[in-house]
Amino acid sequence: MSGAEAAELLRTGTLEVVGRLTAASNATFYATVSSPEGEAACVYKPVAGERPLWDFPDGTLAGREVAAFAVSEALGWGVVPPTVHRDGPFGEGMVQLWVDADPEVDLVALARDEQSGPLRRMAVFDAVINNSDRKIGHLLPLPGGHLHGCDHGVAFAEEYKLRTVLWQWQGEPLTEEAVEGLESLYGRLEEHGGELSAELDRHLTAPERYALRRRVELLLEHKVHPYPSPAWPAVPWPPV
Ligand SMILES: Nc1ncnc2c1ncn2[C@@H]1O[C@H](COP(=O)(O)OP(=O)(O)O)[C@@H](O)[C@H]1O
Ligand SMILES: [Mg+2]
Repeated sequence: MSGAEAAELLRTGTLEVVGRLTAASNATFYATVSSPEGEAACVYKPVAGERPLWDFPDGTLAGREVAAFAVSEALGWGVVPPTVHRDGPFGEGMVQLWVDADPEVDLVALARDEQSGPLRRMAVFDAVINNSDRKIGHLLPLPGGHLHGCDHGVAFAEEYKLRTVLWQWQGEPLTEEAVEGLESLYGRLEEHGGELSAELDRHLTAPERYALRRRVELLLEHKVHPYPSPAWPAVPWPPV
């Protein structure tokens, strides 16, 4: 299934909840989507199941996950599995394609790897979306080497809130590939009326969209991986 076909199935298929995924405070469900064209497993996070947070407006986490997918697509690195906003058994929410991570990969070792290209791209992606929750358990390595990430609900804050386990490249020059990806993303962000702008308009406020553009500008200006903020815990707790 192509990404576009997967997104279409996620958007239009019949959504059935199979079970609850975590005992965490947000309601996160394992579900299936099915249509005459096919069936897939997915994650469903209804807005109604979002725990209120002090630092993010209520009811916005699902939309942030969809915005993260849009940015991932614009970068062309496929960090976020296909993700859509739609109605479901517990109301509107985000639905994301389930990916079968490789159980053989040691995630703790992967998170510390300094040589992994896909992981380094993910660190740049997180800086762009201002991810406040990149934990080891949010790494989904596929057999064959592709790396997906999940759980991008607490992202796109206006203030710098990067909180991640991936600090190994702080202060190092961005790779050429990263710079190219960022330049192309910047072009897409500037395209008023474009597909990316329309999707971000739906899920982020104007100041949040401005802050996103500024982060990309700063990355392109300095061309280095960012440092942790002294004013904010730099590593999520627990890190797994
Ligand atoms: N799209 C996905 N494909 C495969 N596994 C996933 C996916 N999304 C989440 N998971 C798994 O489910 C766990 C909980 O999902 P997460 O998005 O972290 O929800 P929560 O907001 O409850 O922390 C993740 O740590 C990961 O192991
Ligand atoms: Mg999580």
